[in-house]
Amino acid sequence: AITSAFAPRLLEWFDAHGRHDLPWQIQRTPYRVWLSEIMLQQTQVTTVIPYFQRFVDALPDLHALANAPSDDVLALWSGLGYYNRARNLHAAAKICMAEHDGELPRDFDALHALPGIGRSTAGAILAQAWNELQPILDGNVKRVLTRLHGIDGWPGLPAVEKQLWTIADASLPASPAARLRMADYTQAQMDLGATLCTRTRPKCDTCPFVDLCIAKRDGLAGEIPASKPK
Ligand code: ADE
Repeated sequence: AITSAFAPRLLEWFDAHGRHDLPWQIQRTPYRVWLSEIMLQQTQVTTVIPYFQRFVDALPDLHALANAPSDDVLALWSGLGYYNRARNLHAAAKICMAEHDGELPRDFDALHALPGIGRSTAGAILAQAWNELQPILDGNVKRVLTRLHGIDGWPGLPAVEKQLWTIADASLPASPAARLRMADYTQAQMDLGATLCTRTRPKCDTCPFVDLCIAKRDGLAGEIPASKPK
């Protein structure tokens, strides 16, 4: 119901309150967007920024990463945790050299096939690097959409996840002007989830969707998203 209002309001909110100075926004290359998305999969923005900066200073592009010794890549990741992310990143860079002319593929399926790149990360990379019309559905976005639409099942359930992808698709910007802003639209969803629509104590009083939010209307912002059933 509120899908058509979502993108325009979100972009308006982002212009006034979103993050515009992130290192992967200021100097936007597919490589930097990809690296940021992998680092941000399990780590918050404020923690990621200094690691990101150190990583790109040492390995500024795909060639440098592919040709770096594994020990160097892991040393640059040291402290971030979830080291499989670094191993997958390194392996993916080598695949790009061998199979994709030394570039990160722009094709969704080819990107999704790389180690460490799931459906949401593939969409996030294409939207931010190329302004492609791609939905995302990470933890932040699942929280925003379950609350906004009053979806009460656990978002990890395949049936609920399927419903959320349908909503994410239907919420994509419709106007030509907004469709040129997919990088901002993508970052805006994450910013809303990370700064306002937080897991505990969401800041509903300053949310641009307070009047449309089903969880808020029903007093369920504390219960949605449902936690994993035992
Ligand atoms: N989580 C995943 N990608 C993110 C991004 N670009 N900004 C904030 N959090 C994120």
